[in-house]
Amino acid sequence: MDQVAPLIDPFARPITYLRVSVTDRCDFRCVYCMAEHMQFLPKADLLTLEELDRLCSAFVGLGVRKLRITGGEPLVRRGIMGFFRAMSRHLGAGLDELTLTTNGSQLARHAAALADCGVRRVNVSLDTLNPDRFAAITRWGRLPQVMEGIAAARAAGLRVKINTVALKGVNEAELFDLVRWCGDEGHDLTFIEVMPMGDLGLDAVGGAGDGGRLDQYWPLSDLRARLAERFDLIDLTERSGGPARYVRLAQTGQKIGFITPLTHNFCESCNRVRVTCTGELFMCLGQEDNADLRAPLRASPDDTALRQTIRAAIARKPRGHDFDYSRQRVSGQMSRHMSHTGG
Ligand code: 5AD
Ligand code: SF4
Repeated sequence: MDQVAPLIDPFARPITYLRVSVTDRCDFRCVYCMAEHMQFLPKADLLTLEELDRLCSAFVGLGVRKLRITGGEPLVRRGIMGFFRAMSRHLGAGLDELTLTTNGSQLARHAAALADCGVRRVNVSLDTLNPDRFAAITRWGRLPQVMEGIAAARAAGLRVKINTVALKGVNEAELFDLVRWCGDEGHDLTFIEVMPMGDLGLDAVGGAGDGGRLDQYWPLSDLRARLAERFDLIDLTERSGGPARYVRLAQTGQKIGFITPLTHNFCESCNRVRVTCTGELFMCLGQEDNADLRAPLRASPDDTALRQTIRAAIARKPRGHDFDYSRQRVSGQMSRHMSHTGG
């Protein structure tokens, strides 16, 4: 009985979407995400692949229909394809969608196997089409490798959504190039407003001043206005249950998404929770409250306590988040990195 009653939070939102970070590690060092010399977590702190399987399977048993694997970079975790293979058993048996967010660096190797595991779509993070700028933003990344990964994903039949962090003075001038490229290649495109996470600015990449991240803050309202100078934007009402809003460009038919995590415009339809690579369940991206799922996972091979811990946590999912740049200095209170929580 416990297993079948769906997860409904105090605001009557059914929790059907789980994002799970499987590693805090990454082969890139994007300036807005990580320090160049990151201290990663000790391996013993991470959930094992078996624990991740139990955890995700428990959520599917509790009504989760969409599972997104994130990191860090999920495809750098050893054995991760075995985990995808294992999760594919839930597709059509509770789970509607199995997907991932990736930097694309390992996609050329894994795209075909991912497609074979029932993955239909991948989100690839890509902020620029300029190789030098790409290297500057990601520090360790190289654009051709990611381009090969994206091509391999398409060749394997995967739909690709490009996620672009909008960075004032960095990729601002590329707006129309990115839109055109995605249109030509048939990729969906979503812009993400830079979030107050991590503790680094982008001074090395461009953008004026010494204010770090705040100087690269490019409000998507401005980006949207820029798009509207060249295209007629048709507002789409459809929501993914997530923070994205969409428009269609009348001239090209392309769908463009906007994720503005700093505005309170999506909490009311929030259907998601996330789990970090150490098994902390965060009920809201913008709030620190979390539940430790690793302890019940490790305490017993039986999942009863795990399910109880999940239910108790969902029962205190907050109404909305608490981002506020005005109360947030550059080295703000929010020190949780995207690489830890998962993007
Ligand atoms: N602000 C916005 N997006 C971020 N990402 C990582 N750090 C930040 C940040 N500070 C994004 C990546 C990727 C996803 C995993 O999260 O660019 O699209
Ligand atoms: Fe890696 Fe993504 Fe963070 Fe870049 S933003 S360092 S690709 S996890």
